[in-house]
Amino acid sequence: MAKIETDYLKYFWPMRHYLVTCGEPGRANIIAVSFCMPVSKEPPMVACAIGTGMHSCELIRESREFVVNVPTEEMARQIYYCGVHSGRDVDKFKETGSTPMPARRVKAPIIGECVAHVECRVVHGLVTGDKTLWVAEVVDAYADADVEEARRTVRFAGGKFPHTVYGSQR
Ligand SMILES: Cc1cc2nc3c(=O)[nH]c(=O)nc-3n(C[C@H](O)[C@H](O)[C@H](O)COP(=O)(O)O)c2cc1C
Repeated sequence: MAKIETDYLKYFWPMRHYLVTCGEPGRANIIAVSFCMPVSKEPPMVACAIGTGMHSCELIRESREFVVNVPTEEMARQIYYCGVHSGRDVDKFKETGSTPMPARRVKAPIIGECVAHVECRVVHGLVTGDKTLWVAEVVDAYADADVEEARRTVRFAGGKFPHTVYGSQR
C-alpha cells in the first residue's frame, strides 16, 4: 500500500473535550481543551497543552492552578463557545450560562454543569511549540454522585476532529 502525507493530528482522534477553568473568582476563565491526558497514576498527574499566547495560559502561569471540568455531549455549544472566544474579550461564564462554584483545594471555580472535576496544581510548565504543556498534580477529584454510582449514564463530549480549531483542511 502506498503511504501518503497526512496531518498527524487527525490520527490522534477521537479525543475527549474538557472545559478547563483557571484564574481567581471574579476574573476566572474557561477554555475548551482536547490536548489533556493523565500522565501518572501515583502520584496522580495530568498534563494539558494550552496555547502559549492564550489568556488561560497567562492565568495558569500566574496562579499555577487549574481545574479540568468534564462536560457532557449536550454541552457542545458551551464547549465551542469557550473554544473560539477569548476570556480577554468576554466573560465566558456569563456568556455560556455556566455556573461558577467554589473548588475544594484551588482558587479557580469549577463549572457546576460539568459532571466531574479534577483540581490541579502545576508542577512543570514546558513550552512545546505553540503550546505550553502544564504538567500538574491532581490535588482533588470528584464527580456527580449519580454519575459516579452509575445511576445516570452520560455521554462525554468529544469525537469529531475540530477542523476549524486545528486548521486541518483534510
Ligand atoms: C473542541 C476544542 C478543543 C480545543 N482544544 C484546545 C487545546 O487542547 N489546547 C488549546 O490551547 N486550545 C484548544 N482549543 C482552542 C481554545 O479553546 C481557544 O483558543 C480559546 O479561545 C482560548 O481561550 P482564552 O484566550 O480565553 O484562553 C480548543 C477549541 C475547541 C473548540
